[in-house]
Amino acid sequence: MAKKTIHDFHKMVAEGEKITYLTAYDYLTAKMVEKAGMDMILVGDSLGMVELGYETTLPVTLEDMIRHCQAVRRGAPNTFIVGDMTYMSYQVSDEQAVESAGRMIKEGWCDAVKLEGGGERMASRIKAINESGILVMGHIGLTPQSMGQQGGYKAQGRNSQAAVNIVKEAKRLEEAGAFSILVEAVPSAVGKAITDRANIPILGIGAGPYTHGQLLIFADMIGLFDNFTPKFVRQYANVNEIITNAFKQYYQEVKENKFPIDGEHTYKMKEEEVNEFLDLLEKQGI
Ligand code: KIV
Repeated sequence: MAKKTIHDFHKMVAEGEKITYLTAYDYLTAKMVEKAGMDMILVGDSLGMVELGYETTLPVTLEDMIRHCQAVRRGAPNTFIVGDMTYMSYQVSDEQAVESAGRMIKEGWCDAVKLEGGGERMASRIKAINESGILVMGHIGLTPQSMGQQGGYKAQGRNSQAAVNIVKEAKRLEEAGAFSILVEAVPSAVGKAITDRANIPILGIGAGPYTHGQLLIFADMIGLFDNFTPKFVRQYANVNEIITNAFKQYYQEVKENKFPIDGEHTYKMKEEEVNEFLDLLEKQGI
């Protein structure tokens, strides 16, 4: 199938077809995500926690992202890929943001970039990136790169004034030129209010069922990442258990000499060659 474009996403919104969005960070996963027919892939900076074992997303570098975006592109050549802008790769200035976004496209082979946050400062970054010809997705609500200011990984917009502020932020980012906005961890009423007022695709992760599309982190939804599971995740499989059991079985079978089985997992050698080989070893005193 041909890779989707922003025109397809707008058509899907107009026709009421939900947009499916899933993270991937490596070649093998990306291949499976594309095979499943996903509309969009996010190479998120959640990479830091899911794949690199950091406690937060903050240590992830632009180089990490570029390396993983390339791997995802190799696995999913026909899927629209959004790459996350890493912490401090866009916060400093519009110029820095354009340069970093350019690298994500030019070296990471992404179709679009995503950055976190609202306010005048992020609206300005989005405007600058958009004006440089790059598709940019906003990300509001819970924004893990500002978890210090947000007091941890907490749902946002849970009182009326905070909810109004998030709806205003969405409008501001749309006006600045975001081609789409991801809304994370807000009450359904807030997700709906943003979606009802938007002229661009609104995607949600923990933002309720009314957004134009849904995102999940692949390792959460297949039960691979077991450090914690956010409330908004539905677990479609328990891959962690399947893999751990396979590892345990392998461990046991090697210990018990049940693997490998000669003749089944081994390379053959003609009997006369084996005899000659053993003879040679003996003659050469090896
Ligand atoms: O990095 C990521 O995967 C994200 C999601 C948590 C929304 O930005």
